Amino acid sequence: MFTVTTERPEDRAAIDQLLDRAFGPGRMRKMSYRFRDGVDPVANLQLVARGNDGALLGTVRCWPIAIGAMRAPALLLGPIAVEPALKGQGIGAALMFATLDMAAWAGHRLVLLVGDLDYYQRFGFVPAATHGFVMPGEKPQRLLVHALDPAALGTIHGVLQPAAALYRKSAA
Ligand SMILES: CC(C)(COP(=O)(O)OP(=O)(O)OC[C@H]1O[C@@H](n2cnc3c(N)ncnc32)[C@H](O)[C@@H]1OP(=O)(O)O)[C@@H](O)C(=O)NCCC(=O)NCCS
Repeated sequence: MFTVTTERPEDRAAIDQLLDRAFGPGRMRKMSYRFRDGVDPVANLQLVARGNDGALLGTVRCWPIAIGAMRAPALLLGPIAVEPALKGQGIGAALMFATLDMAAWAGHRLVLLVGDLDYYQRFGFVPAATHGFVMPGEKPQRLLVHALDPAALGTIHGVLQPAAALYRKSAA
């Protein structure tokens, strides 16, 4: 059994260790990390899964990004990771559904991520390149989008940009 809750500051060390185990030490070289430099995750969209004993079993975070010449606000979801020994028990799905629900309630219109369509299409993600989204330096087929507001697809498109100029990382 597990529960999904909001991440707490004291979870950070365990989250970093889980991400290192899930993605390997080179994870910060990924293109998507350039969108996280100098920016905090979006408040209330940084979730964890915990076991009954409080142990950290999974993590997901969302980051603010801007899209296109109009710098339309959107979310970049990730990284998401589940304790390797506990994969396949629905923890990843619970984190994804909770994140998308909370993002919708908060009024966000678009969620983008870099990942495998085979996994994320079950949560409503579709190829983003088809809809005119571009992440420089990333394979187009790995960029996916979920429209929380269907009207946003077709009206918002363009190059993804880090939101670092809009949001300043809080003092550690
Ligand atoms: C991806 C991840 C978060 C999924 O978490 P999870 O708790 O195992 O997911 P769930 O239990 O909800 O779903 C498991 C299902 O997803 C499938 N799945 C997992 N990763 C997949 C992938 N990359 N592509 C296609 N299917 C995938 C599993 O085969 C399983 O399929 P089944 O339901 O038919 O048995 C987890 O596998 C993980 O931490 N992976 C390492 C880090 C990673 O790759 N993160 C995603 C980066 S894009």
